[in-house]
Amino acid sequence: MKIIMLGAPGAGKGTQAKMIAEKFAIPHISTGDIFRANIKNGTELGMEAKKYMDQGLLVPDELTVKILLDRVAQKDCTDGYVLDGFPRTIPQAQVLDKALTELGDHIDYAINVDVPDENIINRMSGRRACVTCGATYHIEHIPPQKEGICDKCNAELILRDDDKPETVKNRLDVYHKQTQPLIEFYSEKEVLRTVDGTQDMQNVFAAIVEILK
Ligand code: AP5
Ligand code: MG
Repeated sequence: MKIIMLGAPGAGKGTQAKMIAEKFAIPHISTGDIFRANIKNGTELGMEAKKYMDQGLLVPDELTVKILLDRVAQKDCTDGYVLDGFPRTIPQAQVLDKALTELGDHIDYAINVDVPDENIINRMSGRRACVTCGATYHIEHIPPQKEGICDKCNAELILRDDDKPETVKNRLDVYHKQTQPLIEFYSEKEVLRTVDGTQDMQNVFAAIVEILK
C-alpha cells in the first residue's frame, strides 16, 4: 500500500505516519527527517537544505526529488510505504506520478490531516523532537516520560530551529501557496481522503485505519 500524508506543518503527519508504518509494516519516509539527519551529520546536502529550512522555505525540488526517488527504489519499499512531507509541490507530485506510472504503479491513498492554522502555532511551540530516532512529543499533549529525554532511545529532545513562531508563520504561508494545491491534485485522482486532525491522536489514527482497511 502506497500512502501520502498531506497537511499543514504541525498537522500531525509525522505522528500518524509512524503509527501507520508500524501497523501496516511499511517504511515511513519523511523528507524532513532525511534533511535533519543530513544537517546533524554535517553533509553537503544538509548544509544546503538548512539554508531554506531555517527560513521556513521549501528546499528546491531538484534536491528533494532525487533523494525521494532513490529512497522509494530501495528493496524495503516494494510492498509500499508512507510518505510524510513529500510531495509538497505540484512538480514534485508530477515527478512521483510519472515514476510510479512507468512502473505500472500508483498511489493508493493521499490522507489529508486537516487542522486549522489557529491550532498549529501552539502545537509547534510545544513540540519536542529526537534528532537521533525521529520520535516526536508534545510537552502538554504527548509528554515524554522524563522531561527532555526520548522514551525510545534516551537521547536529548530538541525544539526544532524551524518551530519558532515567526518561522512557523512562514511555513504556513508556504504551505497555503505551494502545498495546498495538492489537495485538488489528489482529489482529481480520486485517492484523497480527509480526516479531522484536531481530534486526539488516537482518534485521528482510528479514522485513518478505517480508511485504509
Ligand atoms: P517537515 O519535517 O516535513 O515539516 P512540516 O511539514 O513542516 O511538518 P512537521 O514535521 O512540522 O509537522 P507534522 O505534520 O509532521 O506534525 P507532527 O506529527 O510532528 O519539513 C521541514 C522542512 O524541510 C520544510 O519546511 C522544508 O524546508 C523541508 N522539506 C521537507 N520536505 C520537503 C519537500 N518535499 N520539498 C521541499 N522541502 C522540503 O505533530 C506536530 C506536534 O503536534 C507534535 O508535537 C505532536 O506531538 C503534536 N500532535 C500531533 N498530533 C496531535 C494531536 N492529534 N493532538 C495534539 N497534538 C498532536
Ligand atoms: Mg513531521
